[in-house]
Amino acid sequence: MTENPTPMLSRPYVRMGLIAGGAALATVLVMSLYSSISHRKAEARQTSFKLVDLDEKTVDPAQWGKNFPRQYEAYQRTSERYGTKYGGAGSEGMPTSRLKEDPRLVTIFDGYAFAIDFNQRRGHAYMLEDQRNTKRVTTKPQTGACMHCHASNTVAYREMGIQKGAPGSLDEAFASPNAQSQLMAGFEAISKLPYADATKLVKHPVACIDCHEPKGNSLRVTKPGFIRGIVALANSTEPVPHLPSIEKWRKGDRSTPYDANRDASRQELRSMVCGQCHVEYYCGPKTTLFFPWNNGLKVEQIEAYYDAYKFADGHRFFDWQHAKTGAEVLKAQHPEFEMWSQGVHARSGVSCADCHMPYVREGAIKISSHQVRSPLLDVARSCQTCHRFPEEELKARVTAIQDRTKALMDRAEDAVVQLINDTVAAKQAGVEASKLTPVLELQRKAQWRLDFVNAENSMGFHAPQEAARILGEAIDYARQGQVVLRDLGAPKVAKK
Ligand code: HEC
Ligand code: HEC
Ligand code: HEC
Ligand code: HEC
Ligand code: HEC
Repeated sequence: MTENPTPMLSRPYVRMGLIAGGAALATVLVMSLYSSISHRKAEARQTSFKLVDLDEKTVDPAQWGKNFPRQYEAYQRTSERYGTKYGGAGSEGMPTSRLKEDPRLVTIFDGYAFAIDFNQRRGHAYMLEDQRNTKRVTTKPQTGACMHCHASNTVAYREMGIQKGAPGSLDEAFASPNAQSQLMAGFEAISKLPYADATKLVKHPVACIDCHEPKGNSLRVTKPGFIRGIVALANSTEPVPHLPSIEKWRKGDRSTPYDANRDASRQELRSMVCGQCHVEYYCGPKTTLFFPWNNGLKVEQIEAYYDAYKFADGHRFFDWQHAKTGAEVLKAQHPEFEMWSQGVHARSGVSCADCHMPYVREGAIKISSHQVRSPLLDVARSCQTCHRFPEEELKARVTAIQDRTKALMDRAEDAVVQLINDTVAAKQAGVEASKLTPVLELQRKAQWRLDFVNAENSMGFHAPQEAARILGEAIDYARQGQVVLRDLGAPKVAKK
């Protein structure tokens, strides 16, 4: 052993080798960068035809389609019907009724509009007409807030905002302070209108302008509920490692609120554009629509926010009062963004668009499929870009996750229905109302968790363990409720 060995990197032959190797590598890198840049430029030339001068007033997707015919053509194909084991709404004339598929939901939602009409979702092309036609709208009074996620309303909001006195004109860039005040003022005003009046202000389902900036075509978010909700999430202390721009903003001086359009990465926006609508929300007459993300995105964090929330009349938050038991209960709606946030894909940086809008090669160019639909219809492009398993194997893994979730969800539904029936029997037997309070609270907790998984549209796939955890808690809370009833000496009822 010598005292001072020549360090490895200083040895002449090693250095020469490194320099030569480095130069070769650099050449390769520059070459590949060059070819990738020129390839992208060629792609850009071919994807964009620049026939129409798009601006902040161009709502009609057909106008955008003149510049981007491939994306427009695929966007229109969201009208194609399909059914997978758990996805889509089937290919019949009318979407499949979730209530007919599972009559237990009628008991669970008793007293609420969802017990009247509740269908499987279908493609984006139908969002406006399905909302206009649902019995939840035609037989119950609803507000203009419903439109937030069922139409291209970016321009309608701004126009109404200007009418209500917000400064500036529609020509101003969306990101400008004037445009933002127009948007928010219009959103507040339209949300308060009766649904029938509000829906006259819009013509199209979600459109290009809702996700894209008209000049440079970059991704953006435009829905007021999301813009406010993501600020509330950023202001919370809940770790969000799958949204690194929020973590980064939190470490800064926070002199301006988090702004997804300024701060988020392209990869984050590839999920956030979907999170504008595929989320849990409050949308009733008592206050302006909001996303309940102030404590975080997990089921119990949202519940805690609702439990602490007081309406203007001082009453604690609830969506409806159960017709049979009187419990003040919560309705969960499509928390895809929230559930995805708890899964391994989000944690690994995989976005909604990676699976639901995969790249499609058309001749020499690569575009994002704007036919947003189930990834199981195109496993090769949606999954096999990352997973080197055969298609059948990948589908089988998805089905295994979904079947397990469904089996656990069935147990949770049975448990909630049995708790409801036992509570009704206890009331009929004359058990004092005040003694039933803890039982009704347990119904609220159990039902909320069950619904969080049931209303989520991937049947557990977006976060399998999280879905199972939530359902386990749902079953436990429902059974705890029955134990309280038993200890009250309430009579049993026959299982349904
Ligand atoms: C890793 C891939 C992946 C990611 C990421 C992902 N999804 Fe999914 N999603 C799926 C799969 C698989 C299904 C189940 C489809 C089926 O059952 O046909 C699904 C189902 C859905 C459905 C119901 C589809 C139908 O056909 O009825 C919706 C809506 C949805 N996802 C939205 C989202 C949103 C919004 C995000 C992001 C917040 C997201 N997904 C992220 C793979 C993904
Ligand atoms: C403006 C709100 C909005 C945005 C933004 C949005 N969705 Fe949807 N999405 C809906 C509505 C509403 C439906 C259900 C329409 C119906 O049933 O009539 C739906 C349906 C779907 C379906 C079911 C399709 C089918 O044919 O059954 C999938 C999958 C889906 N969305 C995924 C996504 C993904 C991924 C993104 C982001 C790239 C996204 N959505 C962005 C509102 C939205
Ligand atoms: C925060 C966004 C958002 C708001 C606000 C919203 N929806 Fe939806 N809606 C969705 C999404 C996303 C889907 C597709 C996923 C699903 O069906 O679970 C959907 C699906 C639907 C469907 C088709 C499936 C079904 O449930 O029968 C109807 C009808 C509907 N919504 C009506 C309404 C009405 C009425 C309101 C107002 C009370 C409303 N929506 C408010 C996002 C929203
Ligand atoms: C729900 C949101 C959403 C809507 C609505 C939408 N897009 Fe996109 N679009 C995306 C996403 C996500 C990407 C991928 C962007 C990226 O990775 O940078 C994309 C990418 C694009 C691109 C870039 C090239 C490509 O295909 O990747 C073009 C061009 C485009 N969209 C045009 C349109 C047009 C035209 C419409 C209306 C007919 C439209 N988009 C509607 C979300 C949307
Ligand atoms: C952009 C890359 C990417 C895409 C696209 C993708 N995945 Fe994954 N997937 C991952 C990563 C990363 C993991 C985490 C596990 C790991 O590190 O290997 C993962 C994990 C999984 C797991 C384990 C699930 C769990 O929650 O523990 C399943 C199952 C899976 N993926 C199925 C799919 C399916 C089905 C699709 C298409 C609908 C898909 N993936 C699309 C990258 C991807």
